[in-house]
Amino acid sequence: MAKIKDRKGIILAGGTGSRLSPLTKAVSKQLMPIYDKPMIYYPLSTLLIAGIKEILIICSPFYLKSYQNLLGDGSQWGVNIKYKCQQSPDGIAQAFILGEEFLKGSPVCLILGDNLFYGDNLSLKLKEANQDRNNGTLFAYQVNDPSRYGIVEFNSEFNVLNIQEKPTNPSSNYAITGIYFYENSVVSIAKNLKPSKRGELEITDINNVLLSENNLKVKLLKRGMAWLDTGTIDSLHDAGTFIKTIETRQGLKIGCPEEIAFKLKYIGKKELKKIADNYSSSEYGKYLLKLIKNY
Ligand code: G1P
Repeated sequence: MAKIKDRKGIILAGGTGSRLSPLTKAVSKQLMPIYDKPMIYYPLSTLLIAGIKEILIICSPFYLKSYQNLLGDGSQWGVNIKYKCQQSPDGIAQAFILGEEFLKGSPVCLILGDNLFYGDNLSLKLKEANQDRNNGTLFAYQVNDPSRYGIVEFNSEFNVLNIQEKPTNPSSNYAITGIYFYENSVVSIAKNLKPSKRGELEITDINNVLLSENNLKVKLLKRGMAWLDTGTIDSLHDAGTFIKTIETRQGLKIGCPEEIAFKLKYIGKKELKKIADNYSSSEYGKYLLKLIKNY
């Protein structure tokens, strides 16, 4: 019997970040600080928590070096990180075309580089979605401003009726969040897409193909969960404040890849100490040292 392939992860960190100008004039949006760490640490941590160890970062060629400087080949965290340049940002679904070679037939979890997920049950939900090889899985979350997102309409039994991209008159307040679990067939679906009116290969069009084939589940992230995006100045600021509040209250970090890798035993004390020593003058480094001491 053929071995079941492990799911691989893609972080889409492209785009121009034009809504954050001039912050993004010289720095990639997904490298901006969210309180005490670069934004991309959060989606990266989410993939690690889901049990994904092979990760592709898609970014603009202009920032490739910066991402490589920050994340390296992932071996410091016991994972594997590769890079692919996106010459022009032509829509989220383009990630599967750019990622085809990296995926080599594996199922995939795509996460947007500016999405933050936080909550008690998150790791269980992600692991379930990772292990489901019969359907794609999306997560929906109630938002106050639905016309900014892909929106899902449910019937009274919470079966999906339809998904629409940024509707002017949204039929519900449930947004499709920026984490998508798919089988490898998503690559050929993406290749057959036509650009939408705004000229993009839309993730919502992929979701509608899978829905019509009855191959898609949409699970709810309920009110105990936080899903934040960081696409505007206010949401960037709010996300930083949220992380600061929880981290300060608990003395625990959110989105710390070293901690996750250590707890998952991808790395041991020696490897963690090496990273901590490099950051010894920052609070982040002190936190890593404390993890070793308290283990
Ligand atoms: C994209 C997707 C949208 C989804 C959102 C989540 O929107 O097109 O369906 O709800 O991400 O962050 P964009 O970030 O391109 O505005």
